[in-house]
Amino acid sequence: MPEDFIRQSPETAKKNLSKAERRKKLREVPASLKRFREIKEQALLGAGPKRIEAQKAKGKLTARERLSYLLDEGSFQEIGLLVETRSTDFGLKDKGIKGDGVVTGFGKIDGRKVAVFSQDFTQLGGSLGLAHARKITTMMDLALEAKIPVIGILDSGGARIQEGVDSLDGYGEIFYRNTKSSGKIPQISIIVGPCAGGAVYSPALTDFVFMVEGISNMFVTGPEVVKAATGEDVDFETLGGSMTHASKSGVCHFVAKSEPDCYRQVKELLTFLPQNNEERPPIAETKDPIDRKLPLLEKLCGVDPRKPYRVHHIIWWLSDDHKFLEVHHHFAKNIVTGFMKLGGMTVGVIANNPSHMAGALDINASDKAARFIRFLNKFNIPILTLVDVPGYWPGVKQEHAGIIRHGAKLLYAYSEATVPKVTLVLRKAYGGAYIAMSSKYLRGDINFALPNAEIAVMGPRGAIEILYSKELKKSKPEDIDELKLKLSQEYADKFASPYQTASRGSIDEVIEPLNARSRLINAFELLADKKKPGTDVTGGNIPL
Ligand code: HXC
Repeated sequence: MPEDFIRQSPETAKKNLSKAERRKKLREVPASLKRFREIKEQALLGAGPKRIEAQKAKGKLTARERLSYLLDEGSFQEIGLLVETRSTDFGLKDKGIKGDGVVTGFGKIDGRKVAVFSQDFTQLGGSLGLAHARKITTMMDLALEAKIPVIGILDSGGARIQEGVDSLDGYGEIFYRNTKSSGKIPQISIIVGPCAGGAVYSPALTDFVFMVEGISNMFVTGPEVVKAATGEDVDFETLGGSMTHASKSGVCHFVAKSEPDCYRQVKELLTFLPQNNEERPPIAETKDPIDRKLPLLEKLCGVDPRKPYRVHHIIWWLSDDHKFLEVHHHFAKNIVTGFMKLGGMTVGVIANNPSHMAGALDINASDKAARFIRFLNKFNIPILTLVDVPGYWPGVKQEHAGIIRHGAKLLYAYSEATVPKVTLVLRKAYGGAYIAMSSKYLRGDINFALPNAEIAVMGPRGAIEILYSKELKKSKPEDIDELKLKLSQEYADKFASPYQTASRGSIDEVIEPLNARSRLINAFELLADKKKPGTDVTGGNIPL
C-alpha cells in the first residue's frame, strides 16, 4: 500500500480516488510483507515434499506434526525459524536450509508451559551443526530461566559431518546445559529416529527417555563399526532398538507402539510432575474414596511367603482410580517404579516385585530405584515404598559386577531424600535389603507393616541352617526334615512377624490391611509440608 494513501484522511482519499480504486489499494499487500510471507512459507515447508515423503515411508511423522500431537492446539510459538548454518563447506553454502534441521519454541500441554525442540530429519538428516545446537541451547537456557520442562524430540544422523568440530562443540554445549538443568526442571527425551554416536548422551543426561517400536535407535557405534571392531554381526534393532534399551541397557524408560501413543504417554507423565524443583506436583481431582477398603491386601496376608505375585496388583488397588504409570516397566522387573495419585497427591512408588527373581535386589534394581528416588526427591514428590524382599540376589556374577557398589546407591538415595517417605512392609523384609527399602533408620518418616510381615535378618530356612548347623549334621537322615520343620517354626514364631520390630519402634504401626489406602493417604497428608520446595541443596541428578 503506497505511503501517500495511508497518510490521507478518509475524506481526502474519497475525494481523490474512486471507491473501486480505494478498495484495490486496500487489498494491495506491501512488498516487504509479501517477501516475509514467502520466506516463512518456504521455511515451514522444510526440505520439501520429496523429503517428507521419504520420512513418511520410514513410518515417521514430520518434526512439526510431532509438535502438533504433543502440544495444545494453537499454543506453539516458534523461535528461530529462519536460522541457517554459517558454514559454507562441503556444499552447505548452497543448501540454504532455514531452521537448520530443528524446530524450536514454546508451547503448552494441558495448559502448562513447556519448551520444545524437534529435530527435522528431512533437512540434512536432522544432523547437528553449530546453528542447530545454538537453537536448542537457546531454548534450554530460556526454559531454565522460565523454570519450565524441556521436551526434546530427536531424529538425527548425529554430528553434522560437514561442520567438523563445530558440531562436536555444539553437543558439548547441550550436554553442559542438560547437566545444569538436572534436578531443576524436568527434562524429557523422545527418540523417534536414529540417535547415534555421542548424541546419545544428551538423552542419557535427561530424566526420562521415550522410544517408539520400529523407528527408534540409539547406539554409540553402529552395526558396521561393531562388526569392524569386534567381529559381531548385529542389526540396528538388536543393537539399539527400543526393546533393547527398555529391557537390557535401561537407557529407555517408556516404549510406545506408535508416535501418537508416545506423545500421549509423555502428556500423562507430565500430569504427575511439577514444572520445576520449586513447585509441588499438581493435585488431581478424584472421586475415589480415601477410605476405600482393600480386600486384596487382606488376602495377601494368607499367601505363603515363598509364593510369587505381581506387586502391580497391590499398587493398582492402592492408587486413585486404580491408575499407575510405570516407569522402566521392562527393566529390572524385580523392582517396580512409577507414579500414582493417592488422595489426589502425586506419589512415587518403589516396590519389590516377588514375581520376578523373588523381588530380590540386584545391580539393575538398585540403579533403577536409586535414580528414580533421586528424581522424586529433586521434584518434591513423596515416596511410597512397598516392601516384600528376600534379600540381595546372590552369586559370583553379581558380586564381581559390583552389587556392593551399586547396592550402596540405593542406601544413599533413600538416606539423602528429604521428601515425605512412607513405607509399608507387605510380607518379607530380610537382612540388608530390609534396611535398604526405606527402613526407619534410613529416615523413613512413617513405617507401616501388615500383620503377616516377616522382618528378620534372614528367612527361617536359611537361619536354622546357620544357627543349628551342628545339630542338623548330627541328626539321623530320616529325622532331618522333621527337625528342620520344628526349628523353622520356632524361629518363625519369634522373628517371622512384625511384632518384635514394632516393639523396638522400627515399625511405627502394624495396620489393618483393609484400611491400608486411608492410612497411607493420611500419612502423606500429615507429611505434606515436611519439605519446602526449592530447598534441596544436593545438586542435580547424576545418571546412575
Ligand atoms: C550430515 C547427514 C548426517 C550427518 C545423515 N545425513 N547423517 N549429513 N551429517 N551426520 C544426511 C545424509 O547424507 C542424507 O543426505 C540425509 O541426511 C538422509 O540420510 P540417509 O542416510 O539417506 O538416511 P537413512 O538411510 O535413513 O540413514 C540414516 C542414518 C545414516 C542411519 C542416520 O544417515 C547415517 O548412518 N548417518 C551417519 C550417522 C553418523 O555416523 N553420524 C555421526 C555420529 S558421530 P542426502 O542429501 O544425501 O539425502 C556423532 C558424534 C557426536 O554424532 C559426538 C558428540 C559428543
